[in-house]
Amino acid sequence: MKFFIDTADVAEIRDLAATGLVDGVTTNPSLVAKTGRDFFEVLREICDVVPGPVSAEVAATDFDTMLAEGQALAKLAANIVIKVPLTPDGLKACKALTDSGTKVNVTLCFSAAQAILAAKAGATYISPFVGRLDDIGSDGMELIADIVEIYQSYPHFTTEVLVASVRNVNHVIESAKMGADVATIPPGVLRAMYKHPLTDKGLDAFLADWAKTGQSILNQ
Ligand code: E4P
Repeated sequence: MKFFIDTADVAEIRDLAATGLVDGVTTNPSLVAKTGRDFFEVLREICDVVPGPVSAEVAATDFDTMLAEGQALAKLAANIVIKVPLTPDGLKACKALTDSGTKVNVTLCFSAAQAILAAKAGATYISPFVGRLDDIGSDGMELIADIVEIYQSYPHFTTEVLVASVRNVNHVIESAKMGADVATIPPGVLRAMYKHPLTDKGLDAFLADWAKTGQSILNQ
């Protein structure tokens, strides 16, 4: 399972990339706005830090402008993936960009029907938003199970399931159990994945017992 980091904060990305566990990055207009920085500058920096796929979202809603924006963003770096919304024009842009060799992440997916359309449009990734579905009383993880099952029935669908709008560690665990290809994880959730109280308690006990031996592993 691949881990992408869901942020446009370059310092966070640099810090987490040092773990060696980060396979890519996803951004969106809200995350970019939160940085208060220039979009292209932020993307260049992210692409320098992470060699894996970096999703950059178009801002237009009509096909022609989406295509032009996608082409402009794709020129930034070889690892840029163009993010388009799941609309008729967005999927048309997805098809055109994919046909010209650019990778596309179709975002704002909230149903299995939408995920089928994205796969047929040749998307590299489909981003179902689990947290936002949970927020309205639906079951986000049920959508992931449905999409994984549908895609498995059609081996010619090469679209990867990228679980987005992840809000907690359970979303990541459930995604892994279902065989989702990727989870894009907010920095706080990735850090929370390391945590277990028994790990902290066990380490404290081991350190205390080791100190009693008076030994040092490095000064033999
Ligand atoms: C990533 O591709 C999505 O834009 C992001 O995961 C959305 O997360 P949110 O629902 O927490 O804003």
